[in-house]
Amino acid sequence: MDKVISLTEKISFTPGESLLEISYLLASILFIVGLKMLSRPETARRGNIWAAIGMGIAILTTILFHRNSEGEPISNVGWILLAIAIGTGIGWLIAIRVKMTAMPQLVSFFNGMGGAAAALISLMEFPHISDNLIAQYGMLNGHVLAILLGLLIGSVSFAGSMVAFGKLDGKVKDIRSKVLRFVNIGLLAFLIGFIVYIMSLGEVDPQSIMPLIYVMFAVSLIYGVLFVMPIGGADMPVVISLLNSFTGIAAAMGGFLYENQAMLTGGILVGSAGMILTVLMCKAMNRSLTNVIIGAFGGGGAALENEEGSIKETSVSDAAIMMNYSRKVMIVPGYGLAVAKAQHLCHELDKQLEESGVEVKYAIHSVAGRMPGHMNVLLAEADVPYEKLLEGEEANEMIDDVDVVMVVGANDVVNPAAEDDPSSPVYGMPVIKARNAKNIVVLKRGMGKGYAGIENNLFFNDKTKMLFGDAKDTIQKLIDEVKDL
Ligand code: TAP
Repeated sequence: MDKVISLTEKISFTPGESLLEISYLLASILFIVGLKMLSRPETARRGNIWAAIGMGIAILTTILFHRNSEGEPISNVGWILLAIAIGTGIGWLIAIRVKMTAMPQLVSFFNGMGGAAAALISLMEFPHISDNLIAQYGMLNGHVLAILLGLLIGSVSFAGSMVAFGKLDGKVKDIRSKVLRFVNIGLLAFLIGFIVYIMSLGEVDPQSIMPLIYVMFAVSLIYGVLFVMPIGGADMPVVISLLNSFTGIAAAMGGFLYENQAMLTGGILVGSAGMILTVLMCKAMNRSLTNVIIGAFGGGGAALENEEGSIKETSVSDAAIMMNYSRKVMIVPGYGLAVAKAQHLCHELDKQLEESGVEVKYAIHSVAGRMPGHMNVLLAEADVPYEKLLEGEEANEMIDDVDVVMVVGANDVVNPAAEDDPSSPVYGMPVIKARNAKNIVVLKRGMGKGYAGIENNLFFNDKTKMLFGDAKDTIQKLIDEVKDL
């Protein structure tokens, strides 16, 4: 009987509360639909819009219908709208001005802002934990845990993302030292111990222990910086997706705290999608998640200086003839394709070759470029059919039978040191085995290194011909040559 009464009480919402609940449900559904649509390049743009509409609905209805425990509406609506307008304006300006090649930095920056927001929520809410809750359970309760975890994870995500932003922008260099690994383990242990300590304090006034909370905030920021600092080489993508996931988890803590379903669902979706991506990235890079969390990889290994042969240049016309009279050509795009904005011309060359009866495929490495799915996005923008894209493993299975591999601005993702040199920072990372093809043509501007900053013996391989120049110019010249054949 009791249960029936409490159930009846629960569903006696005011119209405003009901609308709020329904809007959160709708927003959550739109987040899920949007996320699902992000999994295919053709639907990704619409997916983003659906999820943004969901977020818009959740924000609007919260402002209109939210009531506090005394039944009062939100009072500072003017300030909230002003903050939204300023944030939207800045975000919009940055987004329309950003170059495609600077997108990864921007993603890192925005992710950091999410982490900062979650950390600030924790800092603001800690002094306001309800007296009743503390009188009943002391500090050992779910709200305190959610606030402390939100603070820890949000701060790490903010500080780590800012360092990642600096690294991707080329402004921050890796700091590698074995000592740092132990410092990181120590800091992480300290932070976990700190949470346990605070929760064991019993019945205290949260205001009185705010200095401790500030200490925790500062240490979390330091840990965020030191945890990303040593990670270099080719391993940044894993860290970036892990930080993304952290921001989602921190936001979910906020959702739990405010009993806000939309925030909770959004946070859980970002957190779990980010974590799945991190695990997949770890697999793709042959790394363990534990090592990522203590910031323990990416270091070590001197750059390969031992050249296996000499660089052999080729001419545009020789490369065009070789490809035009091949049976199978495989294009391996990398970061340089994005820098050169050569995706449209690349597709044009591929269509031109197919008109000559050549079968053309693309080998897509999971971390080619500077953000997950970077090559897929660029090639989808150029309307390259999805069926032409092969994932790394699939490409490697058929690469022995390929007449010409054309490497376009890729470097680390085709570096044989990943298989040959245990001292290399990229050792163990699966790569596109370009050297197994019958011929290799490499399009790059010079002998510049890739993201990992190491030598690539593929360029010195006997089968490799270098075609120096900006990828876009070179591909345009190749198209002209192929047309004339
Ligand atoms: P990279 O190893 O970075 O190599 C790119 C190459 O492109 C460079 O060697 C550069 O050589 C060449 N290049 C630059 N501009 C060019 C242009 N305009 N025309 C022609 N070539 C140009 O690229 P990758 O093979 O794609 O590997 C990606 C790397 O980034 C990996 O180490 C990966 O771990 C890391 N990373 C990836 C991500 C994600 S999530 N994808 C995120 C962060 C870091 P020249 O200077 O000689 O032209």
